[in-house]
Amino acid sequence: MHSTQSQQSPARASNSIAPELSIVVPTYNERANVGELVRKLDRVLADIRWEVIFVDDNSPDKTFETVKQIAHSDPRVRCIHRIGRRGLSGACIEGILSSAAPTVAVMDADLQHDESILPKMYRAIKDGADLVIGTRYAGEDASSQGLSPIRQWGSNQATNLARKFLRIDVSDPMSGFFMIPRARVDAVAGKLSDEGFKILLDIIASTPTRLKTVEIPYHFRQRVAGESKLDTLVTAEYLGLLFSKLSGGFLPIRFLMFLIVGATGIAVHLAVLQTALHAFGMAFPSAQLTATLVAMAWNFVLNNQLTYRDRRLKGIKFVIGMATFYLVCSLGTFANVGAASWLVQFEPNQILAGLAGAILGAVFNYAASSVLTWHK
Ligand code: GDD
Ligand code: MN
Repeated sequence: MHSTQSQQSPARASNSIAPELSIVVPTYNERANVGELVRKLDRVLADIRWEVIFVDDNSPDKTFETVKQIAHSDPRVRCIHRIGRRGLSGACIEGILSSAAPTVAVMDADLQHDESILPKMYRAIKDGADLVIGTRYAGEDASSQGLSPIRQWGSNQATNLARKFLRIDVSDPMSGFFMIPRARVDAVAGKLSDEGFKILLDIIASTPTRLKTVEIPYHFRQRVAGESKLDTLVTAEYLGLLFSKLSGGFLPIRFLMFLIVGATGIAVHLAVLQTALHAFGMAFPSAQLTATLVAMAWNFVLNNQLTYRDRRLKGIKFVIGMATFYLVCSLGTFANVGAASWLVQFEPNQILAGLAGAILGAVFNYAASSVLTWHK
């Protein structure tokens, strides 16, 4: 039906200049890199009708201005300037959905991804691949010099988990460098999470059928200009996406991250309690109070770093946020104890009643802190 329409349309004459390939490039403070990237694309994609779509989240360094300057003299260059939004995955999805080209690629702006494999990737798509991934692992000179050792370790663990739990058997599901027929993304667009940065994993996990996948190894370069926006902590976020997918998308990533943080908070609580009782010889009530306050502070800081990394509170807002978080958690504790004490009258299993109270408390803390502490 679509093709019939486009055949009748007068715009048909311009088909010959429509791009075959859109390259979507998310940017945040990449002003010094975008010009060089366009030059590199121009050099390497001589035989393909391409366009590049930069999706910039209102970078403080005004990357969008630089992109638009280039676009002024090069119609293959486009810019989506997003205001009031932040996030790698969301930016990629928006860029892909804005494209009319039958094939789309996603790549970083910082020149760490080797653009010279793009023609090979495109050929693989033409040969029938559903997905082509530029991978840092496969191949002889597999190199990951661009990542810190600890992040490399986290990345490997995350890849293993994806293999085990989601039965995703590509060597680098965290790659930010891939090419895919646009229809493949359109088909799952409604299921994709715009939080976080794991766009590729999300596409694979959201597609019900097996995508015919080709991996092309490349040398991950060092970043020269600007700095990395992702850190070691992104791995934790990846765990959240994994669990969210395992729950069939029912549980939001943020809530799962909140629970993971909460679980570490329990460990902190017990450690502090132990120390206060035995090393400092405190009485139980004050030891328990100290442990509670420290665990809440721990949870606040971790949630601020991880769960709400995109809304991270700093300076005076950090202090106010901490105060509201204490308030929320205190109310959550009331709700928890109240509900459990009420339930235990009907439910003879005290552990079950306790668990129900704890779940209610966690849901309350999550919901209330998302409104009070980390509101948009
Ligand atoms: N629009 C937008 N919004 N772009 C962003 C944002 C954001 O919030 N955060 C990062 N970017 C852009 C950067 O400007 C860059 O072009 C690209 O996304 C990748 O960000 P980097 O900060 O350079 O990531 P990295 O090099 O540390 O991460 C590498 O490893 C990841 C997997 O561990 C990259 O290869 C990623 O693509 C990959 O997913
Ligand atoms: Mn990078």
